[in-house]
Amino acid sequence: MKSGRAAAGRFLRVLSGETLARPPLWLMRQAGRYLPEYRELRATAPNFMTFCYDPPKAAEVTLQPIRRFGFDAAIIFCDILVVPDALGQPVSFETGEGPRLEPIAEPAGLSRIRDKIDLSRLSPVYEAIDRVKGALPADTALIGFCGAPWTVATYMIAGRGTPDQAPARLFAYRHPEAFQQLIDILVDSSIEHLSAQIKAGVDVVQIFDSWAGVLPEPELEKWSFAPIVRIAEAIRALHPATKIIAFPRGVSTRQTAQLAAVGAIDCVGLDTAADVSACATSVDANCALQGNLDPLLLLSGSTALETDVERITKALRGRPHIFNLGHGILPPTPIAHVERLIAHLDRLGS
Ligand code: CP3
Repeated sequence: MKSGRAAAGRFLRVLSGETLARPPLWLMRQAGRYLPEYRELRATAPNFMTFCYDPPKAAEVTLQPIRRFGFDAAIIFCDILVVPDALGQPVSFETGEGPRLEPIAEPAGLSRIRDKIDLSRLSPVYEAIDRVKGALPADTALIGFCGAPWTVATYMIAGRGTPDQAPARLFAYRHPEAFQQLIDILVDSSIEHLSAQIKAGVDVVQIFDSWAGVLPEPELEKWSFAPIVRIAEAIRALHPATKIIAFPRGVSTRQTAQLAAVGAIDCVGLDTAADVSACATSVDANCALQGNLDPLLLLSGSTALETDVERITKALRGRPHIFNLGHGILPPTPIAHVERLIAHLDRLGS
């Protein structure tokens, strides 16, 4: 972390436990298809993975939402599925259909992947971070990320997205030892990938567990939280200045509070269905909270948008709070609605 630059930012101040009248703002998936300038540059790449691995283009789309909206943080443009790609399980994206990998249907399939990540394959990501770092305003933080081992494993096993992650859940019940082996590989790979992003210049890392919510309690503990905590503690030990955000989508208030109580975790993300008021009272006061606004409400632009921004801000007043959506911004979201959100947050904080 370069001193001065990071110390000045509102986003990093909140992650260090400060409370601000106007919460800092960024949006999950803020670099993406709702922006015409993204779609224009995306059209110049033959496919999504090539786009992720093109440092000038990845750096440019990372900066686009910062130029347009002045968000308090940028998130490096990449994807959580570069980790399986660098483990030797190639990933491709079918236009409009999502990711495709050759499924790991049986324990024997694990022999097709490496037991250690090939970081050299991800060097374009670290080069993109270096470029962004040099171009960002001094008070804008840079976020790196990875998927949590459970969420990444669901795609590696099913070979695609599924509504309920049944293939990965079945694999874990039938073959707990082989599944543990996969999770262990992903824990080590995530630590290496996040460390490389930090060395390249990110100030904060976010661990996305988009599919935590499909797991029953004992499995959530074992396959989602325990690996996230191993990653967070290793990163804290290796890079004590780096802030760590965990986003376990779909978990209960009690489970949110449990993760927030982990010393190495500085902030926990709240999904759209989270009970913000209950989280405000039961989550450790030193842990920042982020998220909750429904991406569909932002898309709709209903007058309820302003009311809901107030509901969330009020519930989290007096504690470290980062304004965000409860999941990624949706491609049809009008830019004018993002501008309305920003204007309303500014009014509330003034
Ligand atoms: O702006 C940012 O937030 C940074 C970039 C980012 C992307 N994916 C770019 C992307 C981030 C942080 C992600 C995380 C990610 N990727 C998650 C976790 C968060 C979540 O949304 O739950 C997951 C599960 C993935 C896997 C993934 N990538 C899927 C399932 C898909 C297809 C669905 C879709 O949204 O299209 C992607 C593709 C993807 N990743 C796109 C973008 C901008 C769209 C593809 C394109 O533009 O061609």
